[in-house]
Amino acid sequence: MSQSQSLKLAALAGDGIGPEVMREAIKVLRAVENKHGKKFGFSIEITEAPVGWAGIDAAGKALPDATLALCKQSDAILFGSVGLPDRDPTIPKEERPERAALLRLRKEFGLFANLRPVVLSKALAHACPLQPDRQGDGIDILVVRELTGGMYFGRPKETTDLGDGKKKAVDTMVYTTDEIARIAHVGFRAARLRRKKLTSIDKANVLENGVLWRDVVTAVAKEYPDVTLEHMFVDNGAMQLMLKPTQFDVMLCENMFGDILSDEAAALAGSLGMLPSASLGQTTGEKTFGVYEPAGGTAPDIAGKNLANPIAQIASAALMLQYSFGLNEAGVAVHNAIAKVIADGLRTGDIYSAHDAKARKVGTSEMGDAIATAVAG
Ligand code: IPM
Ligand code: MG
Repeated sequence: MSQSQSLKLAALAGDGIGPEVMREAIKVLRAVENKHGKKFGFSIEITEAPVGWAGIDAAGKALPDATLALCKQSDAILFGSVGLPDRDPTIPKEERPERAALLRLRKEFGLFANLRPVVLSKALAHACPLQPDRQGDGIDILVVRELTGGMYFGRPKETTDLGDGKKKAVDTMVYTTDEIARIAHVGFRAARLRRKKLTSIDKANVLENGVLWRDVVTAVAKEYPDVTLEHMFVDNGAMQLMLKPTQFDVMLCENMFGDILSDEAAALAGSLGMLPSASLGQTTGEKTFGVYEPAGGTAPDIAGKNLANPIAQIASAALMLQYSFGLNEAGVAVHNAIAKVIADGLRTGDIYSAHDAKARKVGTSEMGDAIATAVAG
C-alpha cells in the first residue's frame, strides 16, 4: 500500500441493534487507526449514512440515492442490519429494506461471494448447544455462500391471482456454469489456506441446479488437486452439522442453502452475535470491494437496550481491514483483541452462562470499550 493512504469507509448502521453495534465497531476502528495508522501509513475516513427503515425515514427509500452514491465512492461498506418485521406491513415488498437495500447492494456491486467464518472458541464451549464430546478440538468452519444467484434473484419471481381469493407464487432457481465456477474457485482458494477440505452442498438428487452445481464443482476441483472435495446433499449437511461439525472445513453452498446452513452453523459458535461476514465481488487490480456485515439480524426485541453483542460487527470490521484494505496485521490485531476479552470472561447476555465462574456480564458499549482497549494495548 502507498504511503499514508486515506481509506474510505461507508458506515451504514441501519435498523434495530444496527446503530449500537456499529458505534462499537467504529470505536474499535479508531483504536486500530491510532495504533497502526502511522506504522502502516493509513487513515480511515468514515462517513455514516442511513439505510433500511432509517433510509425510508430520512429520504423515503431503503437505499437513499445519497447513500448509494456514497457507497460508490467508498473503498468498502461496513453494514449493520436492516428490516423491522413489525413496521408498516403495507409497504410494497420490493421496497422493503431486505430487498431494496441489502439485496440491491449485493447485486449492484456484484458481491457474489459471501464468507461466513464460524469458530467456536474453547472459552465459549458452554454456549454451544452440542455436548462437549461432539465439539472435538473445536469447531472452525468457513461457509462460502454464493450471493447473487439462485432463488433470491431468479426470474420469474411473482405472485399471480388465480381468482376465488387464491394465488400462485413463483420463485425461480437459476445458476449458470460461470456463476458456479467463480464461487467454487473462491471456495477452493479459501480451503487451500485452511485444512484443505471442501464440502460442496447441493440437492443433486432432485434439482437440475444441483446436478449442474455438482458437475461444475467437480470440474473446478481438478485445478486444486491438493484440496479434498466431498459432495453432500443439503439435508444430510444440515444433519451432519449437528452430529459431527468437526468434519467440515469449507462448506460451499448456493445462495439459499448457504443462508440456512450458515445460521445453523452460527448456533454452534454460541450465538448469531458472534458471526461476521464478508461479501466480496471481483478483485480489480489490488482492490477488493466488499460489504461487511454481521450475519445476524436487527434483533428489535433488544434494540436500544445496550444488550446486543457487538462482536459480529467488530469482527466484520476486522475482515474489512484484511480483505478490502489489505491491512492483515491490523485485522488480526482486532481478532486477537476479541479473543482476549472473551478469554478474560467478558460476556454479553447471548453468550453468558451462570455456570462459568469466570464470566462477567457486560453491555454492548462495555464490550466495545474492552475490545478497543485490547487493540490499543
Ligand atoms: C442473511 C440474511 C438475508 C439473506 C436477509 C435479511 C435478506 O438472512 O444475510 O443471511 O437472506 O441473505
Ligand atoms: Mg440469513
